[in-house]
This record gives sequence, structure tokens and C-alpha cells, in this order.
Amino acid sequence: MCGIVGYIGEKNVVDILLQGLYKLEYRGYDSAGIAVIDKDSNELKIIKKVGKIRNLESSMKEDGFFNINTEIGIAHTRWATHGEVNEVNAHPHYDEDKTLAIVHNGIIENYNVIKKWLEEKGVKFKTETDTEVLLYLIKYYYKDDLKQAVLSALKHVIGAYGIVVISKKEPGKMIGARNGSPLVFGIGKDDFVLASDVSAIKPVTDNVIYLEDGHIIEVTKENYKILTLEEREVNAKVHTIDWELESWEKGNFPTYMEKEIHEQPNTIINTTRGRWFFEKGELKLGGIEPVRDLLKKTKKITILGCGTSWHAALIGKYWFEYYADISTEVDYAAEFRYRNPIILEDQIVIAISQSGETADTIGAIREAKIKGATVLGITNVVGSTIARETDAGIYLHAGPEIGVASTKAFIGQLTVLLMMAIYMGRMRRLSIEDTLRVSEEFKKIPDKIEKILKQKDYIREIAGKIIKYNNALYLGRGVNYPVALEGALKFKEISYIHAEGYPAAEMKHGPIALIDENMPTIVIATKDFLYDKIISNIKEVKARKGQVIAIATEDDEAIKSHADYVIYIPDTIDMLTPFLSVIPLQLLAYYAATLKGYDVDKPRNLAKSVTVE
Ligand code: G6P
Repeated sequence: MCGIVGYIGEKNVVDILLQGLYKLEYRGYDSAGIAVIDKDSNELKIIKKVGKIRNLESSMKEDGFFNINTEIGIAHTRWATHGEVNEVNAHPHYDEDKTLAIVHNGIIENYNVIKKWLEEKGVKFKTETDTEVLLYLIKYYYKDDLKQAVLSALKHVIGAYGIVVISKKEPGKMIGARNGSPLVFGIGKDDFVLASDVSAIKPVTDNVIYLEDGHIIEVTKENYKILTLEEREVNAKVHTIDWELESWEKGNFPTYMEKEIHEQPNTIINTTRGRWFFEKGELKLGGIEPVRDLLKKTKKITILGCGTSWHAALIGKYWFEYYADISTEVDYAAEFRYRNPIILEDQIVIAISQSGETADTIGAIREAKIKGATVLGITNVVGSTIARETDAGIYLHAGPEIGVASTKAFIGQLTVLLMMAIYMGRMRRLSIEDTLRVSEEFKKIPDKIEKILKQKDYIREIAGKIIKYNNALYLGRGVNYPVALEGALKFKEISYIHAEGYPAAEMKHGPIALIDENMPTIVIATKDFLYDKIISNIKEVKARKGQVIAIATEDDEAIKSHADYVIYIPDTIDMLTPFLSVIPLQLLAYYAATLKGYDVDKPRNLAKSVTVE
């Protein structure tokens, strides 16, 4: 969703801001803009454009923006919430005499009340945004100290924000603040940067401070100071970004999504490194070690997430029940937070989120904590809100995921869930013999994924056959039922072809009515104990002239007589099949979308990190 960059220093400000915007593109946006203070004229120069950053860049070239002599500026990618997508509503917002400029992520919930109050005082608003209201509230308090004005304004604000504000009256200063919307501060050699995401900071520096909710930062060319809203000084810890710059690049791949699909064997290696000792059947999960006693005695787990993370949670449920004998429920974070969930004594809640910033998941974590649960986090982003708000947790170590459709993070999430299930299983009834068996099999998964990736041309061919249809059905049973859901989600979100996932047995209770020769059905039909049942489901589809694409286990020749196309995956133990069955589904969605000419990395209307409810 929206992204922020602010920079102060002697490097090329305009270039750094623009590069920052490019780095933030993946989050999803519909318009973008930049504001800098011209050192020669002491004027605020602002440019905004609807559409892609490259449109903004061309206009900047035409307007001579690159020649401005400046040492400070702010920039923003907007994903519309209040007011339609147009230049006026895009950020940065500025006041009528162009003294102040602001960029803002989040939503000011009481903006209407403040707006009315300011209108009574004569303020005329030119946009429909909540951000402009915050800007004028700051202006209302602004005499000659920007930090004080921001502090005074924020005392009246209810809602979520990450903001950066600059003023031409104090051209050597930027003020940042956060509450519920991420803001990271980068400390360069002789410059500073503020951004909503480390990707925009990495080109400047590796040293960062993750600002906390309720913190405000004053940054000058020489120094910085972090305060609470009550003006107590904060001594914040400096962290190092440990992701390499190249991991934000596409390398030799045409898209981030293709690169990330191909990175998955490595994701598993990175996620298990130093944690899962396959030969000994041992697991060391330092991040959840502090809550070991609770893990041992807990009798119930609730796993929460949104989107693809929710699908990972559904698969995790099978593992926690199978390997650890613990009753496990899964809920959409947005549903959990607003119903009245029952939290038992010693219950554990696991929140899964690639970004660590999904608003609904954060809300659900807070609700679970109020109700007394110990909350564990599974996230990919170090220092993210979810990483900080959970009691303990495990990072994916998957490297940055840029493609909006999650792939390698999903594989990382599955890996962590499996490790947790086995770790907790070992405290209960899981024998070393069974642990060694699953360890031995799991060790082979990265190579088996490589083998599936080699079939990409064949999968592209199948994608070419089904893109003419308007609908697709995905079926799976047992631990592969959530994989069917994930396959359908991948397919619809990037190819814009409607797709639904179902537990195969449920097909006859409704979806079967839709089946005809124009409705391809993708069935996960691997050789497990439910194989015969899924073959029956395939026959039901065929009897209604439906086309079947089967994901089957290597050497299953018989399935060819039932399905129109068969994509083979290597054999593994039943519980581990999701790691393999999901790969052809990712590729099928990928090729369906690219063959239709769509931008798979930035599908329409979607955002990588959904920071609003
Ligand atoms: C968005 C993304 C999805 C992601 C979901 C949850 O919808 O487009 O790819 O699965 O948010 O995000 P999270 O960061 O919490 O895993």
C-alpha cells in the first residue's frame, strides 16, 4: 500500500527519492509524488502524477526537477483510501502558501471532526483526503517550531499514521512520526533517510532504527532526536539490515514473481539453516525457546492470517494435529478480531504475516493478547510491527518478497509451521524414529522442487490452453485442500480469471453445477491414502464433460486415462506434499497471467502490504 521516503543530506536528493519510490512500487499504488525544498529560491517544489513512477520520472525531466538544488525532500506512493485516484489527492500534500508539505500512510479516523473544526476557522480544503486535514492541523499549531506543531497536532489525532513533514521556514529539518503504520529511520554516513520500508533505505545505508508507535523523530542534517508524544527522549537501538541489495533486484528473471518462484528451494534451505538438524532429527528454534514451558503444556492453538498466510495456516493445522497432537483452529485475522473468540488457559495464538504489517493481523494479535493468549509471530520482515508486538516468534529468512502474489514467503511459512509442529510434537508423542523419517524426506524437498521447476515449459503450454475460459475450479483433499485454495487465489489474483478452490468432496454440494466443457478443473491427485476418492471426484468432473488437469505423483501412469493433462511431481510422504503440489499451481497462474500480457508483479487493485482494515 502507500509508501513513504524522506531524505536529508548532500547526495542527489531527487535521485534518492525517485529510486526510493521505485523500490516501494511493489507495495501497490495508484499515484505518486515528490516535494523538495529548493535551496536557491527557498521554495517548496512539488510534483505529482497518477499512474506509474516512470510517468512521474518523465514529468520530472520535463519540468527540470532534476536540476533543483536541494538537500531535503519527501516522496510518496499512494494507494487510494479517502478520495479518488487523481493528482490533487496524491501526496505530498501542501498548504495554500506552500510552506508545509506532508506524506502520510494510514488513516486518520477522526478527520471529519477536525476538518469541520478547521473549516470553522476558515481553512479551505482542496482535496478529499484525511492527510490534508492533518496538514492543516499542523499548520494551525505552527509558529516557528515544526516539531512542536506536529506534536500538538498529533495529540488530537485518532487513527493510524506514518508521516514525514517538511517546512520551507525550517529547510534543514524533517519531522517523522508513527502510530500503527511503519516508519524506519536510516542513519547514513552524512545523511539520513526515513521510509515506510527498508527497501527504500537500503540504497543509502544498512543502519536503521525501527520507530515505535507513539514516537516522533526530528532529523536535521547533522543529528536526530527521537521523542515520545509526551516529549520523553528515547534511546533507540540501531539495527543492521541483513538483506543484500541484490535481493531487491530481478537478476536474470523477467519478473520478481518468476524469480521468487525459482528461489523456493533456497528459501527452504535458508529457513531451516541452523534450526533443523536433519541427521539427528533435532530442531533448535531459538525464537520460541523462551516460551518452551507453555509450548509443552498448551492444549489449543489458534492460527491467524490473511490471504496466502491464511492458507499456510490451514496447512499448519494438519501438521499440528498430526505431528503434535494439538487441537488447532484457523481463523481469518479480520474475523477473529471482531467476534468474541474463546481463549483457553495456556492457549497459544500464532499470527502469520509475510510483511508483518497487515492491519487485520495486528488487530487480531491485540485482541488475542487482551484475552490472555500468548501470541507467537511468523513473519519475514525483521523489526516489523508483528515481530515486535508478539511475545515470541520465528522469522522466515526468505529475503524480500517483491511480487504481490506471495510464493517464496508461503513456502517459508510452511517450513516454519512444519518445524514448530515437529518441535512441539517432540515434547509430546512424536518419536525420534518418526522425526528422523520426516527429516530425511524433508531434506530432499528442495531438489524435488527444482525438478518440478524444470517442467515450466509444459506448464506454460497447459496455461495457454485454459486462458480462454472465464472460470476454473481447484480441488484437493486433506492437507492438499488448502493448496487448492492457494492455487485458485494465485490464479485469480494475477490472471483475472475467476477461480475457486474447494475440498474435493464438497464439489458435489454445489460447484458441480458449474461444470461443463468451459470450466477446467485442476485437481491435486497425489498418491496418498485418499487417492481413490479423488479419482472418483475426477470421474465426476469428466462425466460432465469438464476438462481435468491433474497434479499427480511421478510414475502414476493410470491417471492419464482419467485426466486431460497430467503434471507430475516427485513422490514424498503425504504430509509433505503441499511443498510440491503448490509449485505447478504457482507456475500455472504465472504463465496464465503473462500469456495474457498482465503485470504479474503488480496486479490491479492489489497491494503487497495491506495496512488498512
Ligand atoms: C495481501 C498480499 C497477499 C498476502 C496478504 C497477507 O493481500 O497481496 O500476498 O498474502 O496481503 O499479507 P501478509 O503480509 O500478512 O502475509
